[in-house]
Amino acid sequence: MWRVALALLTLGWSVTGVAQTQTVEQKAAACAACHGEKGVPVDKAFPVIWGQHQGYLFLQLRDFKAGARKNDFMQAVVAELSRDDMMALAEYFSKKPWPDLRQKSATDAEAAVANRVNVSIGCTGCHLGQYQGDATVPRLAGQQHDYLLKSMRDFRSRARANNPGMTDLMKATAEADFEPEANFLAGH
Ligand code: HEC
Ligand code: HEC
Repeated sequence: MWRVALALLTLGWSVTGVAQTQTVEQKAAACAACHGEKGVPVDKAFPVIWGQHQGYLFLQLRDFKAGARKNDFMQAVVAELSRDDMMALAEYFSKKPWPDLRQKSATDAEAAVANRVNVSIGCTGCHLGQYQGDATVPRLAGQQHDYLLKSMRDFRSRARANNPGMTDLMKATAEADFEPEANFLAGH
């Protein structure tokens, strides 16, 4: 976690005056402490942001800033970012290649659960074929397993309340299906 502490220190330094003159690359460097130098997050519960869709990335930064989505790390990060910074960072990270986390493929049983859930809820109606997402709908394929699981649980419990539609869908999904679903998406 020392790298996380360092990142927050770096951010603290960067916002006390230098921020205005920093390029987007310099601002993005602070993100690497948690989201990874090569796009592989440093913690299993931290999401991949490299190659995620631009519109989605921007909306999440905006939601953290507005407090509609809560996370101590991210709220500290966005506190000093302007709307233009968030737009530039969203564009910057969306153009990076999605990293290969080398997560294991789902078992047949896990895939069967995910397919059943998809038939009843229609995940791919929004997250699209192969769970690739687009625009403001996030890519789920190859996302970190622990983060996917946490996100589904957070929507369900409203710990993440920035999208009531996803909360309703996760309430309509059996909690026992979350783990196989996360395995399926992570290994997709
Ligand atoms: C101190 C660690 C830390 C730093 C530094 C950090 N993040 Fe994060 N970020 C997180 C964590 C943890 C989450 C997941 C929060 C949750 O579980 O809801 C997150 C989530 C996000 C998300 C939402 C992703 C999704 O799939 O919903 C975006 C976008 C994001 N961060 C962008 C950034 C950007 C851009 C920077 C640099 C300006 C940055 N982060 C710096 C820890 C960090
Ligand atoms: C009606 C469209 C729709 C459907 C159907 C849908 N989703 Fe979503 N999902 C979204 C949107 C939009 C978001 C981004 C919400 C936000 O802005 O925070 C999202 C976010 C997520 C996230 C968080 C991703 C991240 O990076 O934080 C997960 C996980 C997820 N959906 C899983 C599912 C699963 C599993 C299903 C099927 C059981 C499903 N979704 C069905 C629209 C949908």
